[in-house]
Amino acid sequence: MLIAVDGPAASGKGTIARALAEHFKLPHMDTGALYRAVALNLWRWGGDPSSEFEAVRACEDIGFNPDDPELRSEPVSKIASVISAYPAVRAALLERQREFAAQDGGAVLDGRDIGTVIAPDADAKLFVTASPEVRAQRRVRELLARGMPAHYADVLLDLKSRDERDTGRESAPLVQADDAERLDTSELTVAQAVAEAVRLAEARLKLGHTD
Ligand code: CDP
Repeated sequence: MLIAVDGPAASGKGTIARALAEHFKLPHMDTGALYRAVALNLWRWGGDPSSEFEAVRACEDIGFNPDDPELRSEPVSKIASVISAYPAVRAALLERQREFAAQDGGAVLDGRDIGTVIAPDADAKLFVTASPEVRAQRRVRELLARGMPAHYADVLLDLKSRDERDTGRESAPLVQADDAERLDTSELTVAQAVAEAVRLAEARLKLGHTD
């Protein structure tokens, strides 16, 4: 049972993917954390994010701690958004994600290109989205809760430029897979969004069994 969850920044895809993993008792991979780990490596060395060559070197030995708060810091987020557009960086991280997706029993992966590139044969695909304004509000709350400074106007601008980079890049751009269910969480509470995601995934999985 393989579930792919994709969507733009702060859409709620991480929360939904974790909840689906718990519901279906599956292991979960937050693939954004891989790109963030590469970014953190590069940042710690003082490497140049505008160099694809240096970014690829930063893909080596990313024995990372997914709970490291630095992974979510502003400079690391910015670098992750830049280096994730490099085809060679995406290629370096591909196998690890495919292997995770192929494990016995299945898995849940969330990211930008899970349903399109990493696991095009996934049993259920969700494309989680929300308006830029709602996503910016969520990101502000998240940053403030972590004691980090956050201003709505700056965060909104930043999200929009990230969306542009994600959807405009040539290598694995953010796009809804043809066979993905769209879940707009703009008007939903977390509990409602999770319930809807479970319902959509269950419907898909049932459909797959009768095919
Ligand atoms: O939700 P947010 O954009 O803040 O972060 P994330 O999902 O942790 O992703 C971090 C960065 O990695 C983003 O800039 C994404 O564009 C990129 N990413 C990607 O290119 N492909 C993926 N499968 C996952 C993340």
